[in-house]
Amino acid sequence: AVIRREDYQPYAWRVPEIRLDFDLGLETTRVEATLTIEPNPDAEPSDEIRLDGDGLVLESVAVDGSPRDDWRREGESLVVPVGQGAQKLTIVTRIAPSENTQLMGLYASGGMLCTQCEAEGFRRITFFPDRPDVLSVYTVRMEGDREAFPVLLSNGNLTGEGTLDGGRHFAEWHDPWPKPSYLFALVAGDLVARTDSFTTRSGREVQLGVWVREEDLARTEHAMESLKRSMEWDEKTFGREYDLDVFNIVAVGDFNMGAMENKGLNIFNTKYVLADEETATDADFDAVEGVIGHEYFHNWSGNRVTCRDWFQLSLKEGFTVLRDQLFSQDLHGAAIKRIGDVKVLRAVQFPEDSGPFAHPIRPDSYKEISNFYTATVYNKGAEVIRMMRSMAGEDAFRKGSDLYFERHDGEAATCEDFVRAMEDGAGLDLTQFRRWYEQAGTPHIVLQQMHKGSETVLTVRQSVPATPGQPDKAPVPIPLRVALFDREGGTHSGEQLIVLNEEEQSFTFEGHSSPPILSINRGFTAPVAIEREIARDDLVFLAAKDDDSFARHEAMQELLLGYLLDEPDEDAREAIGIAADAILDDGSLDHEMRAELLTLPPFAYLAERSQSYDPGAMVERREGLKTWLGERFADRFAALHDDLEARSREAGLAGKQARRMRSLALGYIAAADPAEGAKRAAAQYRDAPGMTDRQGALAVLAGLDGPERDAALGDFYDRFSDNALVVDKWFTLQASALRDGVLEDVERLAQHQAFTMANPNRARALYAAMAGNPVAFHDASGAGYRMIADVILELNLRNPQLAARFVPSLGRFRRVEPKRAALMRAELERIAAAPKLSRDVAEQVEASLG
Ligand code: ARG
Ligand code: ZN
Repeated sequence: AVIRREDYQPYAWRVPEIRLDFDLGLETTRVEATLTIEPNPDAEPSDEIRLDGDGLVLESVAVDGSPRDDWRREGESLVVPVGQGAQKLTIVTRIAPSENTQLMGLYASGGMLCTQCEAEGFRRITFFPDRPDVLSVYTVRMEGDREAFPVLLSNGNLTGEGTLDGGRHFAEWHDPWPKPSYLFALVAGDLVARTDSFTTRSGREVQLGVWVREEDLARTEHAMESLKRSMEWDEKTFGREYDLDVFNIVAVGDFNMGAMENKGLNIFNTKYVLADEETATDADFDAVEGVIGHEYFHNWSGNRVTCRDWFQLSLKEGFTVLRDQLFSQDLHGAAIKRIGDVKVLRAVQFPEDSGPFAHPIRPDSYKEISNFYTATVYNKGAEVIRMMRSMAGEDAFRKGSDLYFERHDGEAATCEDFVRAMEDGAGLDLTQFRRWYEQAGTPHIVLQQMHKGSETVLTVRQSVPATPGQPDKAPVPIPLRVALFDREGGTHSGEQLIVLNEEEQSFTFEGHSSPPILSINRGFTAPVAIEREIARDDLVFLAAKDDDSFARHEAMQELLLGYLLDEPDEDAREAIGIAADAILDDGSLDHEMRAELLTLPPFAYLAERSQSYDPGAMVERREGLKTWLGERFADRFAALHDDLEARSREAGLAGKQARRMRSLALGYIAAADPAEGAKRAAAQYRDAPGMTDRQGALAVLAGLDGPERDAALGDFYDRFSDNALVVDKWFTLQASALRDGVLEDVERLAQHQAFTMANPNRARALYAAMAGNPVAFHDASGAGYRMIADVILELNLRNPQLAARFVPSLGRFRRVEPKRAALMRAELERIAAAPKLSRDVAEQVEASLG
């Protein structure tokens, strides 16, 4: 069934309080739920109450303490005739956590019990109105075996605990903040905590805990420091303070997504908690900090103000992604972070926006909401709010967000509420801007620049492409930060923000006696694709001189894309060489930015910029350019690789910057001279002070042939075989290597004793890596497509959410050359014909087939 945004109806009942009693067991858990219900004055009255359920065994129903048997089941739902008025509804259910392979609801992971309720997992724990606009105060009592579950955690504050007969014990938790069911959480297991405390600016002392298995405790320091930085930053930047006496984070090895913002009890994929120098890369450290921030920031953007319905998901996710991006920018500098965020947007969200599953950041309909936890809702959602911030300015934006939190605290709000608060608080008129919430598709901009006398006229045309279900689009407001560079002086006279509202508009700039060089969408102020006629020399100029790091990087990318996507052109390649030379020589650059500027565009973005591409040819082209650059600058890369060795051992920013450049240099060396590359990579691997250098070297070795490769891969596994997150890296490095024979490797790795489909991280480490490997996935035989289709079918019922995430790689067949496209399509049709498809997979496959 299709759920539509326009069909929203408030729920007939309010549930101001719920009491949950858990008798915990891995095999069987008994749940007694007592709901205090009363008619919702804002809804049509009803004399029955309809509760969601999924896979529950119902034991009993009572109303105000009296057993009832006049309830009925409608599908998975439970309907109880309760008449009118306030009352208490008690429902007893049984669930089987160790059989829960979907990892939604209450499930077992490595001997512990934990929950994931967003979006609709709470209904797998007990019957309840499992929708985000029903807010309740939760009191939770957990009881279980003391040895199996020494630690018992839930939301809010601990209000009681004690020992019971028969080796059992209990804990009682109370969360004073009304919340929707998707924010409920419980953890029971043999865990230890790193503890600390944080005092909020108004003087509340908060006990902090990061809970992990004992052997992981040494890798929790970074998570704890990240948490404290998040708490401080949100006070300073958004005026948001924490509101309970306890904040706990629990790391779980089996988790479908990254992490979950349950009130006062965040549950995380271990990948985003555990980190130390030896086992985590610099990028892993940043990801931990970013996700800790993200989940913490949800305490306000998500929990205190939640969503009315799941169509509003971007209300909390888009805003919270923006908040975590700004957090990381503030801590480590905006330039690199912005470039990285845009790279993700273009490699993941742009293809979504131009593909069969394109949807607005606020979708109009869905079959399975899990399918809408997308880069569009999250990352484009963040870009849309970032545009409001760019147009309003930081101070006005803060007034808007303050008003939003003040107005809607304790409510289940809508995207429209957010936009209105921004209008009222930040003083923006967002009438036309609302189209960003309504229309799917990446706006396309065409630029034309004319010069006469001292006048430069910029003509800008926009179009939003048709997407499934949305043939006609209207123009959207597009804020573009621009600067005009004086060719001779090499500088510009200041930035301006122009806002394009119409389909076509002209902007006039004065004061340039000769045609200036335009730097546009500086800082990537708008999530659009820009097409323009610009002289190659001007791009070289910007790649060497633009003072906006994003725009400088962009100019370099345009040079690279121009060469990689058009007919082979000596001059285009030469221009890249000249720009690269300037970048290598520029003493004002730090090594991280230098490396960023010299990094070739990701394959996914090349694919996004092409029609009917031949993946094999595209990879060859890209690798060929790498070889050419490696040969041309062989001495420079060798010198960098040598000279940065000492600095890459340093702690702090300088070390991180050196490591980034050093491994990039290694890649270029290996592309030009595989033997020299293998030698250097083996040494870098052997002497690596930490995982960044080690993984950097191994990634290069994994793409080569020869004894160094086998030795390093063997050593890596032996060294880290007891660390699941590093074993994931071992699988990924092999599955993403750009070389022949990877499909056979993947087949063999799937039989490895350490491989299991039951663990989402492990399944992704092997198969999502392969699906993102253009050589393996797009093998002309179609064997890569078949393998991914088999994975989808195998996971389909066991873990539908995970299964559905593999579909979009096949769904992009319309962009690929016809022979491969037909093979991809055939695999989608094979999946579609399977007997029992989960809603998740069915929705994705139907959309893909169109
Ligand atoms: N709200 C979580 C986050 O963004 C993600 C939860 C995703 N859950 C799901 N079933 N898709 O941090
Ligand atoms: Zn989130």
